[in-house]
Order: sequence, then structure tokens, then C-alpha cells
Amino acid sequence: MPTIDRIRLASLLERERAAYVSAHPASSDLFRSAGHLFGRVPMTWMAKWSGGFPLYLDRASGNRILDVDGHEYVDFALGDTGAMAGHSPQPTVEAVTERMSKRGGMTTMLPTADAEWVGAELTRRFGLPLWSFTLTATDANRWAVRLARLATGRPKILTFAYCYHGSVDEAFAVPGPDGEAMARPGNVGAPVPLDLTTRVAEFNDLAGVEAQLAHGDVAAILTEPALTNIGIVLPEPGFMEGLRALATKYGALLMIDETHTISAGPGGATRLWGLVPDIFVIGKSIGGGIPSGAYGITEELARTVQAHPAADLVDVGGVGGTLAGNALSVAAMRATLEHVLTEEAFARMVGLATEFSRGVQKTIDRTGVPWSVSQLGARSEYRFASPAPRDGSSSAASSDDDLDEYLHLYLVNRGVLITPFHNMALMCPETSRDDVALHTRLFAEAVDELVGREELR
Ligand SMILES: Cc1ncc(COP(=O)(O)O)c(C=O)c1O
Repeated sequence: MPTIDRIRLASLLERERAAYVSAHPASSDLFRSAGHLFGRVPMTWMAKWSGGFPLYLDRASGNRILDVDGHEYVDFALGDTGAMAGHSPQPTVEAVTERMSKRGGMTTMLPTADAEWVGAELTRRFGLPLWSFTLTATDANRWAVRLARLATGRPKILTFAYCYHGSVDEAFAVPGPDGEAMARPGNVGAPVPLDLTTRVAEFNDLAGVEAQLAHGDVAAILTEPALTNIGIVLPEPGFMEGLRALATKYGALLMIDETHTISAGPGGATRLWGLVPDIFVIGKSIGGGIPSGAYGITEELARTVQAHPAADLVDVGGVGGTLAGNALSVAAMRATLEHVLTEEAFARMVGLATEFSRGVQKTIDRTGVPWSVSQLGARSEYRFASPAPRDGSSSAASSDDDLDEYLHLYLVNRGVLITPFHNMALMCPETSRDDVALHTRLFAEAVDELVGREELR
């Protein structure tokens, strides 16, 4: 198994950085002149793009992005799932245009008829009977966490090491030396020490989960069905069923966040794997690019919170978001779910992700690099560990910033984007087999150069 030659990697990285800088003068100028933005970017995570400055967007359509220097990219980043329906899908554009410019009333505090349609469709896909809308998945998680605390009268949320659920303070935890939750390295502005709000376990470790639940203070287990924000960490057989059983045994709610794992299929992993959450959270993709999110709850949970003697869900504890459920967002969700992220679209997207993963695996096998590729439906991701890590901490330990940057820049410099965070690629309805083949070829060439095999090709 070849180890990565760091001197060779450093010199390839230098070459790719130089190529990136020289090909993107307009993006570079815009970045340098953005002196009124915190960190020179509209949101600080945009500094994550490799190469020292982000590409500036000119236009985007389907799975293509055009930057301000005139380069076109095949986009596998797809807004880190926000654009999983493709960029500006026609049915969504028509629905939001109708609402914005013909009917008007983007946000009025009044419901529209689309909301019940979307609620019924979310029930059909994910099973939960009652829905409430938000504008982000973070908000859906935060508001649902409050309901879970209200319903159970318990203070803590159980999360998994290196999970991500948006800026939910409780979730930035890793196990400390004594197993108690402590802030994950890099966490910002925790309101209180994490052990006051959080219990933490490793993904795929049911015994660890049970030990934490046994304290009797956990309101909800909050998890993705597969971790997707520290590479993809798939659940081992029986893990998700075990979580359900343990939640029930210890009186906690099971909260499943499918913001990314909707890639598994039209009903997410919940439908595909027959999961039975008490609370279901989704965001990002379902509005086709218009801010949208939702959480679904069981009848039982709804009854419990509504019957709570002290809780005012309409005013004081109204769970929040003046613009939540606005007419524009709900129209976008309806059009996207009805016409874009359909069963047929998923079938194609999943097939393409399988081809993508096979292409990556072939290069891994041929070159012997100690890496792995994991797939969840329409999402594929490579990781610098083999076999694929089985929990968040070991996946975090396999991170390699230089390798990430080299592969990202190699691809960008040749017309392909993957997510700036680790190495995720997502298919959308417009992704083609040629797009996948382009990535397969470039990935093979990048790895061959890395291990010094380009002469043998
Ligand atoms: C699983 C999961 N939940 C929630 C979020 C937060 O979504 P948003 O940034 O739209 O609030 C993310 C974002 O990546 C996510 O991956």
C-alpha cells in the first residue's frame, strides 16, 4: 500500500495553487476588495474553498456553474445539498415567479393553500403525520429540540461525536476523557459547558449510547441516519433499530435529521430503512434553493406538548421564525417536491452516484492508496482511510487538509467542483453520465500524479 509522499504532494499542491490563482483574476480581485465583509466573505464558512479565495458566481443552471472569470464547472457540490434539485429548476422558478411577481405576498404572516399540500407530501414520504415549517434545517432542529425538552421535562440531548446539525449549540460535543460531553475543538461561543446540555456517544456504539441514556436525563437522541458531515459514516446493521429501541426503553425521543441523507431516496433513509422517528427534520434541498425547512412530529408528541399546562406555543414559546412558512418558501417546496425531486429523478441520481463511486473505487484499487469511498443514494464521498471509518472520531482522525486541497484544486482547475468540506459529491436531476466520467478520469489522473504513476498510464 503506497504511503503518500509529502514532498511530492507539497509540490503538486504548489502547482495547482498557482494555476488556480492565475486562472481566476476576477474572483481574486473581488475577494481582495471585499473589505466590508467579515472574513471578506458573505458567511465565514465560504473561506473554506481551496486556493486562498472562493470562486465568485456569475450564473448557474442545472448542474453547471459559471464563474466571473468565464470558467464553466460541472457542479457536484450542489450548494452542499441546498441545490440537490439542480440550480434554478424550472418548476420551482415558475412557482416562485408566480408568487413573487404575479400574485405577490412573499411574506405576510398568513398561510397559503400550498402548506397543507406540502405537509401531506412530507407525510407520504417520511411517515410523520404533523409538520411545521422553517427556513433552515438549523431552525428546524433548534425548535424541535425545544419541543423535546418540553415533552419529556428532561434537559439533555444525546448527539454523536463529530455530528453536525447546523448551529445547534448542544451538538458541538465530543466525549471528554471521562466520557462526559465537552466542546468539540474549534467550537465558538458555547453558552454553557457542553456537559450541561449534551450527552455524547460514538456512532455505531449502542453500548455507549445506552450508558449515556441510563442517566435518565436525555430528552432526545439527535442523529443523522448516517453521519454525512465528517465524511459519510454509514450505520452498521441493527444500529438504527437499536437506537429506536434504546430511546423507547429510556423514555427519550428519537430525532432523525435527514437534511443530507434525503440523498438515500425520495423518502430519505427513514423510508428506505423503515426507521421510526418521533421527530423528523429536513432542510436545504426541499425548496429547490429557496430557504426552506421542516420538522415533523408524531400525534403523541403533538398531544403532549399541546396539553402542557404552562407552555404557550402560539406566543411566548411560539417556536420562532417570523418568515417561517412564508408563501414563497412553501410554493418552492411544493413545486420542488411535486416536479423535481421525484421518484424517477432519484432513481437516476442514485444510479449515477453508484457509477461515481465505482469510478473512485477503481482508482483506489488500481493505485493501492489507503482510501475508501462510501455512498448513500445520490451522495458519494471519499475518505483517506481504509476501511471506511465506523464512527465520527475515527473519521475525523483521517482528515488530511493537504490532500483535500490538492484534490479540490486539481478538480476545480479542470472544471469540476466538489464540496469545499471534505470530499462529497452529489448528483442532481441534470447530472449526466459524461459528468461522472469526467470526474472518474480526473480523479484517476490526480491520484496517479500523487503516487507517481502518471508515466505508467
Ligand atoms: C444534517 C444537517 N442538519 C442541519 C444542517 C444545517 O442546515 P442549515 O445550514 O440549512 O441550517 C446541516 C448543514 O449542513 C446538516 O448537514
